[in-house]
Amino acid sequence: MLYPLFRNALFRLDAERTHDLVLPMLDSLPGRAVSRWRYSKQPASPLTCCGISFKNPIGLAAGLDKNGDFLHGLSCLGFGFLEIGTVTPRPQSGNDKPRLFRLPEDQALINRMGFNNKGVDHLLSNLVAFRQRPVGNANNGQAKDSAENAIRIGVNIGKNKDTDNARAIDDYVYCLRKVYDAADYITVNISSPNTPGLRDLQLGDARRKLLQDLRNEQISLQSKTGKYVPLLVKIAPDMPDEEITAFANDFGTSALDGLIATNTTNSDDVSKRLKHPSRSETGGISGHPVAALSRQTLKRLRACLPAEVPIIAAGGILSAEDATERLNQGASLLQVYTGLIYHGPRLISDINRAVVAKT
Ligand SMILES: Cc1cc2nc3c(=O)[nH]c(=O)nc-3n(C[C@H](O)[C@H](O)[C@H](O)COP(=O)(O)O)c2cc1C
Repeated sequence: MLYPLFRNALFRLDAERTHDLVLPMLDSLPGRAVSRWRYSKQPASPLTCCGISFKNPIGLAAGLDKNGDFLHGLSCLGFGFLEIGTVTPRPQSGNDKPRLFRLPEDQALINRMGFNNKGVDHLLSNLVAFRQRPVGNANNGQAKDSAENAIRIGVNIGKNKDTDNARAIDDYVYCLRKVYDAADYITVNISSPNTPGLRDLQLGDARRKLLQDLRNEQISLQSKTGKYVPLLVKIAPDMPDEEITAFANDFGTSALDGLIATNTTNSDDVSKRLKHPSRSETGGISGHPVAALSRQTLKRLRACLPAEVPIIAAGGILSAEDATERLNQGASLLQVYTGLIYHGPRLISDINRAVVAKT
């Protein structure tokens, strides 16, 4: 009820400035306010995916909390899981500002952030601290909170902009080794449109080699640590059907654990149909305009892969109806980003309620 008022005020500010204001505010809410939220009635719809138990199927998509700086606040919104990152081995500042645009009449965002992040060591220390954090606020000394601990944390990994594609594997392996022990699952991001050449890693020999090398590293980490951490790959919504099929085949051969469909789109056709004056900004388009492509990619992947291969659906999930449609299409879990910006945390409980009603 309050979110539309809050949103009207915030939407007067620059989009990235709003992000930089709201997340620290959310994260610093006092223990009592936070617990009221945390224990607010979120219908339970627990499930298991990739061998991990989730309290519900709705997660935060990568990119909102690139460094794991706001895990405490975000974990209070009712999500079953949060994906943090994309993180790279070394810190990098990303593209020049402005680089994030709201397009309200299109229910969309355009971003060309360019993997701005503080580096994998910073993210890792946040994640380790979050796992050890006591209830409510940092000072009350109570035992670990089971609701908060039940939230699953995925880490999305990428390569630094100045790392050539020929050496990209070194960056992915570096991040994989760093976060392996602390993450519930790890996502390999080769589908952002804002790092030049990154999407080439989704194609042909580069794809086959990357997936296989990462699988080998995962197995080696499993034997060193005694822990199996699922490895997922996130794909773009802009691949023709033949490429999606080839991707699915190589994915199957690699025996990695799951897919996320999809990242943002840079399709000219989608861009041409936008209405807002910011429509010509360069970057990845998210929200309503990417929904059809994301659905199509999910459908194609589902048709190519056995039903037990997990696919997390992302891209234009803006309502409980969108969420149930993706689940009906065979998605195992869901992620939102743009929907949270336009509809606030209520979207999470609306989806959770719809999922419970469906089961
Ligand atoms: C501002 C912004 C930053 C993003 N950063 C990342 C990122 O770092 N890594 C990534 O894999 N996806 C990133 N994404 C893509 C989202 O995770 C998601 O896949 C995409 O936005 C589609 O979902 P949506 O329509 O619910 O936003 C970003 C999206 C936005 C809007």
